[in-house]
Amino acid sequence: MEIRVAAEQPWDVDADVLAFPVPQDGAGEAVLSELDRRLDGALGDYRRVGELTGKAHGTALLRGRETAAPWLLGVGIGESSSFDALAALRFGAAVERRLGGRVCERLAIWLPAELLNGARAGAANGGGADDLAELIARGAVEGQHEPGSIYRDSVEGAPPQLRELIVVAPDGATDGLRAAVQRGVIIGEGGNRARRLAQRASNDVSPEVLADEATAVAREFGLQVEVIGPERATEMGMNLFMAVGRGSSNAPRFIVLRSGEQAAKDGEGRLLAMVGKGVTFDSGGISIKPADRMEEMKMDKTGACTVISAIATVATLAPGTPLMAVAPAVENLPGPHSTRPGDIVRALNGKVVEIQNTDAEGRLILADALTYAEQQGATHLVDVATLTGAVERAFGKQITGGFGTPQDWWDEVFQAGARQAERYWQVPLVEEYNADLDSWYADFVNTGGAEGSLVKSGLFLQQFVTKPWAHLDIGGTAYLRKPTPWAARGATGVTHATLVELALNGASSAA
Ligand code: BES
Ligand code: MN
Ligand code: ZN
Repeated sequence: MEIRVAAEQPWDVDADVLAFPVPQDGAGEAVLSELDRRLDGALGDYRRVGELTGKAHGTALLRGRETAAPWLLGVGIGESSSFDALAALRFGAAVERRLGGRVCERLAIWLPAELLNGARAGAANGGGADDLAELIARGAVEGQHEPGSIYRDSVEGAPPQLRELIVVAPDGATDGLRAAVQRGVIIGEGGNRARRLAQRASNDVSPEVLADEATAVAREFGLQVEVIGPERATEMGMNLFMAVGRGSSNAPRFIVLRSGEQAAKDGEGRLLAMVGKGVTFDSGGISIKPADRMEEMKMDKTGACTVISAIATVATLAPGTPLMAVAPAVENLPGPHSTRPGDIVRALNGKVVEIQNTDAEGRLILADALTYAEQQGATHLVDVATLTGAVERAFGKQITGGFGTPQDWWDEVFQAGARQAERYWQVPLVEEYNADLDSWYADFVNTGGAEGSLVKSGLFLQQFVTKPWAHLDIGGTAYLRKPTPWAARGATGVTHATLVELALNGASSAA
């Protein structure tokens, strides 16, 4: 997709569709009035009849008149003072989604400076006009993701795949704006790469295929790749990782991607490892899940897909950044060789775990992956996992729950998220609940009762880290069961942008 930043007046821009924001409170009225005049007063008419009021994500497609673009798309953004980072991201995505099924190869989005500057003043997340433009561009790219087309040639109502994205900024088409738009596009493409892989069915993506996909990503983006098979993983002592995959004839693969020189540190003396849960299907194993919605568990590899894509995105934006992505991939099935409840297994870090429930498998493979990352020299850890149903019950589909220690490190992850319009809520690691993880025969069990189970999932993982660590539980936010005006049903790509932003913090301080 080509990117163009245009300094022309919006009505002079040559595009198939010109999209523009419509605030609910009449802000920017002066700017929109010239457009209205060129549309023979259609904008005013549409507002009066209630067709385009500025209500967030309300839209109207209008025929162009004295405009170079033959079609215009007005998209409501709500109150202009609340146009923050998240609103900007969703505005960009809503433009694309609204054009589903329409013919559009060259999409122009007009960013009136009056609106962006007004928004900047009210934006909760800070950020100037360039930051908002980055998010709008990222949204427009993410809006192009169409899960229905993975296994079919054509899908009715699919969003148009753009040949050119034109950002129209008559008063502010600076180099900084161009760079911001480019960054937004690259992060959006990375998010979509994660979503597409996460969305694929379990009969298509086994652990071996996930490793092949990671290898292909490594080739394309100039990363080093290492795939540890079952024999070596066993030799190395990754017994928790190996315990989960035993029931399946699709053998485990432990995937490692690296950018930068081996064990190199970034400008802050750090080596960040991003660890992602890669359960290609989670039936629960012997502790089998109910049939209802079990098909969603093909998404249980989303964390792995996200870190694999994020390291590629970082390599595009800042080649050579020291960074690791670790993605343990397994399939969790019941079978004659499956791990049983009550089995006792020694982890890579030497701790002994009683596997009380084989459906709490994510924490088992993450445990060994976190230990491995530290052994490989990681100084900072962040993991991403569809770890619990409890996190969805607690926070729903809009907020990712997480843990982090020390507090500074959590705060850094949180801030990276805020800049990329991703929302997190920190859950406390309440030390007293460790008592519920006590085992008669081992150092601890992997579950420990329903009460406070979200906290306990964090406490379990904490047993396997000694370095600054954050855990992002995307059990609620990784996929949507219903489409929204800004996103398709299915994989959301959540945390990809946060990880990229976080990794680039270290990279930029190197310069
Ligand atoms: N992959 C699931 C978590 C999950 C469930 C994510 C539903 C998204 C939607 C995870 O492996 C799991 O099964 N967790 C159990 C843990 C329990 C056995 C302690 C859960 O949440 O029920
Ligand atoms: Mn499970
Ligand atoms: Zn799982």
